[in-house]
Amino acid sequence: MKLFITGATGVLGRRVVAGLLAQNHEAVGLSRSAKNQELLANLGAEARQGDIFDAAQMKSLSADCEGIIHLATAIPVESKFRKRDWLLNDRLRTEGTRNLLDAALTNGHQLYIQESVCFIYGDQQGRPLTEAAAIGNDLLFSVQSSVPMEQMVADAHTQGLSTINLRFGNFYGPDAGHTQMMVDMIKKRKMPVTGDGQYKWSMIHVDDAASAVVQAVTHRAGNGGKTFNICEDEPAPFGEMMDHLAELVGKKRPMRIPFWLAALALGRAPARFLTTSLNCVNDLAKERLHWQPAYPSFREGAKTLV
Ligand SMILES: NC(=O)c1ccc[n+]([C@@H]2O[C@H](COP(=O)([O-])OP(=O)(O)OC[C@H]3O[C@@H](n4cnc5c(N)ncnc54)[C@H](OP(=O)(O)O)[C@@H]3O)[C@@H](O)[C@H]2O)c1
Repeated sequence: MKLFITGATGVLGRRVVAGLLAQNHEAVGLSRSAKNQELLANLGAEARQGDIFDAAQMKSLSADCEGIIHLATAIPVESKFRKRDWLLNDRLRTEGTRNLLDAALTNGHQLYIQESVCFIYGDQQGRPLTEAAAIGNDLLFSVQSSVPMEQMVADAHTQGLSTINLRFGNFYGPDAGHTQMMVDMIKKRKMPVTGDGQYKWSMIHVDDAASAVVQAVTHRAGNGGKTFNICEDEPAPFGEMMDHLAELVGKKRPMRIPFWLAALALGRAPARFLTTSLNCVNDLAKERLHWQPAYPSFREGAKTLV
């Protein structure tokens, strides 16, 4: 299948391009910069220059493809963040998704895959969450735009486009900016654990996130209109993960600080984000996409980080 991939030069996209090419698909990667187009060419993909916010360009650039995979993000890589730091990412989720869905509908594509996030469930206090769980009603500003984004994808399915929505857990990987920041902070003993650290985080190694996208392309038949949780098998308490990471880099167990102190140091939203408890269930993706994470837990995947 010939696929038009946005975010093809990002941490997930690069792996998706490689995975699709290995399965004999054709990968057409979008990038705004000449440097990143060279990166795509080196991966063996066809690079096309353009910007997601140019609707007409998205239609023409994807016209000869059979499907679109929307993986572009603009997530701030900082421990402190404010609402304005997320505005570009919000636009990619809303205006960007609109442009790409219109392109796929206009061009009569067979498939559209959307990157979404498990954070859309909000803080559900660690109870197991399948895709049938309700969307959270007190979502952080960093997640709110994923609600209209998913709605647009669902609407496009009713208009005849076969869509697959992938809700990813929290990415980690050796080349992921947030992971590098976390490892660096642990090495410098500047990464505290907020509260008791017992809240669970549903993680996903970026290699496994990419293999799920490739499996969604391969097993697209019969899965149009569906949403899948793409996360590890055994979400662990955040404190346990940080202790394990510290052990791997030969540092002491990170200190525990109260929530009010984290809120004072980082801002209330990042502190809330850090203590969100998510325990997502990936059974549906295993069953219908025939996907299996190579790293079933953070403990397994953390070995790739150091
Ligand atoms: N679920 C999660 O936890 C999750 C999900 C996504 C990302 N993240 C994290 O966020 C951090 C940043 O991710 P990353 O390294 O992939 O980001 P990145 O290097 O900034 O890549 C973002 C991708 O989006 C594309 N893009 C952005 N705006 C675009 C536009 N207007 N038009 C066309 N393409 C556009 C970029 O293309 P060009 O720059 O080549 O044009 C690039 O391919 C990492 O730490 C990652 O782990 C986490």
